[in-house]
Amino acid sequence: MKVLLTGCAGFIGSHTAEALVAAGHSVRGVDAFTDYYDPARKRANVAGLHGHPSFELVEADLAVADADALLEGVDAVAHLAGQPGVRASWDTGFAVYVDRNVVATQRLLEAARRAGTGRFVYASSSSVYGDAESFPTPEDVVPRPVSPYGVTKLAGEHLVSLYGTNFGLPTLSLRYFTVYGPRQRPDMAIWRMADAALGGGPFPLYGDGTAARSFTYVADVAAANLAALDAEVPPGTVVNLSGSETVDVQALLQLVGEAAGAPVPVEQREAEPGDARRTGGDTARARALLGWVASTPLDEGVAAQVAWQR
Ligand SMILES: NC(=O)c1ccc[n+]([C@@H]2O[C@H](COP(=O)([O-])OP(=O)(O)OC[C@H]3O[C@@H](n4cnc5c(N)ncnc54)[C@H](O)[C@@H]3O)[C@@H](O)[C@H]2O)c1
Repeated sequence: MKVLLTGCAGFIGSHTAEALVAAGHSVRGVDAFTDYYDPARKRANVAGLHGHPSFELVEADLAVADADALLEGVDAVAHLAGQPGVRASWDTGFAVYVDRNVVATQRLLEAARRAGTGRFVYASSSSVYGDAESFPTPEDVVPRPVSPYGVTKLAGEHLVSLYGTNFGLPTLSLRYFTVYGPRQRPDMAIWRMADAALGGGPFPLYGDGTAARSFTYVADVAAANLAALDAEVPPGTVVNLSGSETVDVQALLQLVGEAAGAPVPVEQREAEPGDARRTGGDTARARALLGWVASTPLDEGVAAQVAWQR
């Protein structure tokens, strides 16, 4: 298959690009190298792919680029480009989230519809659930995001589903639950914890440390992205990708400290709006439709990330 992979230089995108070429697919990777975090990190993420005969890099902003040209000769789309992070999505930051998560997604969907592209996989998020009422949370609960970021990811997901149901575009949304591993974004908790333990200054702990997350290892997510490109599922399908272990921040601090061989220094801060109290997804649908289970144990994945950061 020839796959258009958006956000190919990002954390999850770069792992997905490597997994795709390793599986014999050809990849047209698109990235705008936005400055949400240092773009030099993104250049480093894809450095190993330069010159690979099955990998082509296009530097373009999907909110304005010629999406028809990007889709030429493409069999399937994995749309991972987006503006991540909860805290920056309040106030004036919101417009960027709308542009990169909603407008960019709608433009790509329109072009995919015109081109009659095959499978369209969208990187959605557990943040669409907000403070869910049941755990592990199944896909069919009513989503109630608690951050503007979550609102834009849900808007993107709704667009993806309606292009599926209205036009038969074979879309599939994957709701990723907090992804971690080598190349993790430097604004994410495990990155900051590991950085603190390795001497980079204290970890800012927002709230009392009882907020809990389901963590999903990046190689497992990349494998699910590949499975999703092939899966026979009805257009508009939504699937949770959730790791099997849910831990709270205190337990995570312990785990990262053990992997780093030094405790994580902590600086206490007030809880901030926009963070869900807990996340954890029901993965029965991922197992049934994609044959996917999160296979990497949290302690192994954390050790791999800390080794990479070291
Ligand atoms: N990391 C997680 O835990 C997580 C969880 C849920 C959902 N997601 C979603 O997965 C996707 C990838 O996340 P990530 O953690 O790898 O983030 P990332 O920031 O490392 O990667 C996103 C990439 O998209 C690019 N990009 C952004 N806007 C663009 C645009 N308009 N045109 C072209 N490229 C653009 C960025 O430059 C970046 O390289 C995002 O859509 C994010 O919302 C991530």
